[in-house]
Amino acid sequence: MDDLIRRAAKDLAAARNVAALTGAGISIESGIPPFRGKGGLWERYDPMEFAIDALMRDPAKVWKLFVKELKEPLDRAKPNEGHKGLVKLEARDKLKTIITQNIDGLHQAAGNTDVIEYHGTFAWQRCMDCHKKYETRKVDISEIPPRCECGGILRPNIVFFGETIPAQAIRRSRQAAADCDLMLVVGTSAVVQPAAMIPGIAKDNGAKIVEINPERTPLTDDISDYLIMGGAGEVMNRIVAAMD
Ligand code: OAD
Repeated sequence: MDDLIRRAAKDLAAARNVAALTGAGISIESGIPPFRGKGGLWERYDPMEFAIDALMRDPAKVWKLFVKELKEPLDRAKPNEGHKGLVKLEARDKLKTIITQNIDGLHQAAGNTDVIEYHGTFAWQRCMDCHKKYETRKVDISEIPPRCECGGILRPNIVFFGETIPAQAIRRSRQAAADCDLMLVVGTSAVVQPAAMIPGIAKDNGAKIVEINPERTPLTDDISDYLIMGGAGEVMNRIVAAMD
C-alpha cells in the first residue's frame, strides 16, 4: 500500500483539477451504516420498503424506518478523517468538486464548499402536496408522519428508487467529471446507476481515476488506474501526509 499512497500523493500534487465521487463507505467511520455488505441497510430491509410507493401506501410505517435508520444515525454523525482529508485537498486548491451519493450532509459539515448531492439530502423535507420545503431539524416528529402546514405529508428530499436524479445534479456532475484531471472514487460499490457512470466520463476525458475502498468494485479493472485498498480515513490521512 505504501507505494500506492506515494503514487496517489504524486498524482494529486501534479493534478490541477480534482473531483471526488463518494459513497456510503466514506461515512461508515462516522457511524452511518452502508447499503450493501455487512451491516448494510439492504441486509436488513428490502429496498422496496424505502421506496416512494411504500411511503404513499403506509406513510407512518415508512416514516418510522426513516427516523430509526436515517434521522437518528445522521443526527449523531460527525465528519471523520475521510471527510476531513477531502477538506484538506480543497484547502490545497486541488479538489474542486465533490459528487456524493450520500444524503448525510457530512461533506458540507466538514467544510467542503462545492458538493453535488446526487441522491438529494435528508437535511430537507418537502410536502408531497404543495412542495413547501422544511429543514429536517426543525420538523416536529412527535407525530408520525410529519405534516406540512397545508396538511400534506412530508417526504425527505432524497432520490428514492425509481425516481430520477435532479437534472441539475446530472448536468453539474457531468461537467465536473469532464473538467477534472484526477477523480478520487471513495467508498462506493459503484453498482447504482447513473452515479456509477461518472468515473467513466472522467476517464473518457483523460482523467486519472484513483479508487479508495477496502474492496474491489466493478470499476477496479476497467476504469480505475489503481485501487488503494483500505478505509477512507486512514488512506486519506496517509495520502495528505505524503503530500506534505
Ligand atoms: P454501498 O453500501 O453500496 O457501498 C459501500 C462501499 O463502501 C463498498 O464498496 C464498501 O467496500 C466500501 N467501504 C466499506 N468500508 C469503507 C471504509 N471504511 N472506507 C471506504 N470505503 C468503505 O454504498 P453506495 O455505493 O454509496 O441510493 O451506494 C450507492 C447507492 O445505493 C446509495 O446512494 C443509495 C443506495 O441504494 C439511493 O438511495 C438512491
